[in-house]
Amino acid sequence: MSKKITFDYWADLYSNRTEFMFSSEIRDLLALSARPDIISFAGGLPEVRAQNFQKLEKYVKRTLKSDGDINIQYGCSDGYYPFKTKLIDVMRLEGIETVEEDIITTTGGQQALDLLAKIFINPGDTVITESPAYTGALNSFKSYEAKIIDIPVDENGIDISILEKKLKELEKKKIQIKFIYLVPNFSNPSGVTLSFDRRKKVLELAKKHRIIILEDNPYGMLRYEGKPIPTIKELDIRGDNRNVIYLSTLSKLLAPGFRIGWIVAPHPILEKISLGVQSTILCVSTFTQRIAYEYFSDPSWVDNIKRFKGIYSKRRDIMLKTLKGNLSSIASWSKPKGGFFIWLKLPDYLSTKEILADAVRNKVAYVPGSGFYPDERGLNEARLAFCTENTERIEKGIKILSKIVKEKIKLYKSFK
Ligand SMILES: Cc1ncc(COP(=O)(O)O)c(C=O)c1O
Repeated sequence: MSKKITFDYWADLYSNRTEFMFSSEIRDLLALSARPDIISFAGGLPEVRAQNFQKLEKYVKRTLKSDGDINIQYGCSDGYYPFKTKLIDVMRLEGIETVEEDIITTTGGQQALDLLAKIFINPGDTVITESPAYTGALNSFKSYEAKIIDIPVDENGIDISILEKKLKELEKKKIQIKFIYLVPNFSNPSGVTLSFDRRKKVLELAKKHRIIILEDNPYGMLRYEGKPIPTIKELDIRGDNRNVIYLSTLSKLLAPGFRIGWIVAPHPILEKISLGVQSTILCVSTFTQRIAYEYFSDPSWVDNIKRFKGIYSKRRDIMLKTLKGNLSSIASWSKPKGGFFIWLKLPDYLSTKEILADAVRNKVAYVPGSGFYPDERGLNEARLAFCTENTERIEKGIKILSKIVKEKIKLYKSFK
């Protein structure tokens, strides 16, 4: 959009809702990520260059050759059925046993979040999120005017004792929580993983207090060490399969440009989501779902994941090593076992927003922490994405960032 400031002739006509719509700092920073001179730890951009483009071309050609007229036609609002058979295989690898009828495809995970917010949230309704939480989810919930209660995470995910206390308190006040939003595997932005015991406990609490859990799992397959932990959905399926709405995306498994996500939920909820799809997009692109169907019909997609994991784990390792070598006595950070993100905490007198200006001048970008809290906390925190840059640039970028941080600390101490 043009940066030119113009008088808004229509300002009095917008819905109240637009007051609660915010631009994600990450989206703004993505423009920086596109500049080759900037070492970007900002957007969580997957390494799509590692895809086999010749194979992708083959899948596109096959899509056009076989039933081409159907594949570029409108499709079913619930998703392209043959592709859903492939999603069953993908989810089975994560331990989730489900059927095609339990799935709706969406235009990316972001639309899944928006649809779920749309069907559940009335203005003023309460939702619970982990804290810090994925900005895209916070922005979606806020745009439907939700009241967000955020519960802190530690190295094992959401703090259960604080959650339990909060739920009791809200129940006493007769406040019905619409849902608890969690990214249990290698969370965006904190990088932490919810432990098995806490997954069981959170589900137990959800059942006790009659609450839905939104389990958002874009990164589950990108584990670089340790054993996979059952998803909360899997635990729910072993029981009455009532409380968990599972969502995921192909953005990190295939490529974000396909804009394909999906939701697994109990049928009455799916019916409402389907109505939401009809009123917003009619149907997800049949064309991209069909290409994705071809992609997941070729067993080599599993090898692609292995290749991705090899690339990302090396990048994670170099970022952790360089942080350790340069900021050990000054800062702390999460040690993710997978995914894309490291959460950095600087001394509380430093502002990562202020430091960002210096960092960008020195050709390094990251996302300041405040955007991941509903109320602009996290001023001394930042999200560092290790997925985008190669190892040399990661090492260089972290060294530059560390130097700036050290200079800021020196300056602060000189005033004390
Ligand atoms: C936790 C989480 N959920 C949802 C999304 C949205 O993904 P997409 O819309 O690309 O499928 C992202 C993207 O980074 C994410 O990290």
